[in-house]
Amino acid sequence: MLLALWSPKGGSGTSVVAASIALVAAGRAEARLADLGGDQPAILGLPPLSTAVPGRGLSAWLAAGASAPTEWLDAMAVPVVPRLSLLPLGDDAPPGAPEAGAALGVALRDNGLTVLDAGAGPSPAARGAVEVADTALMVIRPCYLALRRAVVDPRLGPSSGAILVEEPGRALDASDVAAVLGLPVVGRFPVRADVARVVDAGVLRDRLPAPLASPAALLLDGLADARGRWAA
Ligand SMILES: Nc1ncnc2c1ncn2[C@@H]1O[C@H](COP(=O)(O)OP(=O)(O)OP(=O)(O)O)[C@@H](O)[C@H]1O
Ligand SMILES: [Mg+2]
Repeated sequence: MLLALWSPKGGSGTSVVAASIALVAAGRAEARLADLGGDQPAILGLPPLSTAVPGRGLSAWLAAGASAPTEWLDAMAVPVVPRLSLLPLGDDAPPGAPEAGAALGVALRDNGLTVLDAGAGPSPAARGAVEVADTALMVIRPCYLALRRAVVDPRLGPSSGAILVEEPGRALDASDVAAVLGLPVVGRFPVRADVARVVDAGVLRDRLPAPLASPAALLLDGLADARGRWAA
């Protein structure tokens, strides 16, 4: 099952949310984290991966297009913690074709849960992957600027819910976001200084803070079946 996370605006917290969900999922069953943003090795505190996977990251897979063998995905997987592996972006320039992204998304739907960090940028390849995901969720801070972008983003169409990354004291709340987007809010992650410190220190994979682990677990509980539909 492919769970794709994307954001209409950079710096929303998408990669941290994706890492948190993948880490919690790995506590339950085999899981993968596919990184189209490029920040996951740093977020997970992994050593630089360029020598570990020369030419074999997701960008190389996308560059090869529909001819890329599915086995490459297994070959590039980097262990993170027991039962979680990372499919890194790799060093090559991110290629553009939405068809290649869709082919990647289809390939990632098999073999248990894969969390896709599809990032914020309007990369056509990432958009192609979001479109074929079993479940696509928008990660958004409840702010006017992000909402303005979200309503015109082509990735809104295939999305079935929104995850809020919430700072205290914002004027907009979950019901505002749900009303504007026409999507249910299916997860709420708080912005906290202790979370930022754990990310900065590169120790998230060993010390996932409860304010991230709890909403990640609730979100996974809400994925009612293997096809990624939500519990009523
Ligand atoms: N819940 C949180 N609490 C505090 N800080 C956070 C939280 N989530 C993310 N951050 C911090 O905010 C910054 C951006 O987070 P992150 O990289 O996850 O966002 P992103 O949406 O993936 O950004 P990009 O557009 O660059 O891909 C990072 O410095 C991260 O440490
Ligand atoms: Mg990111």
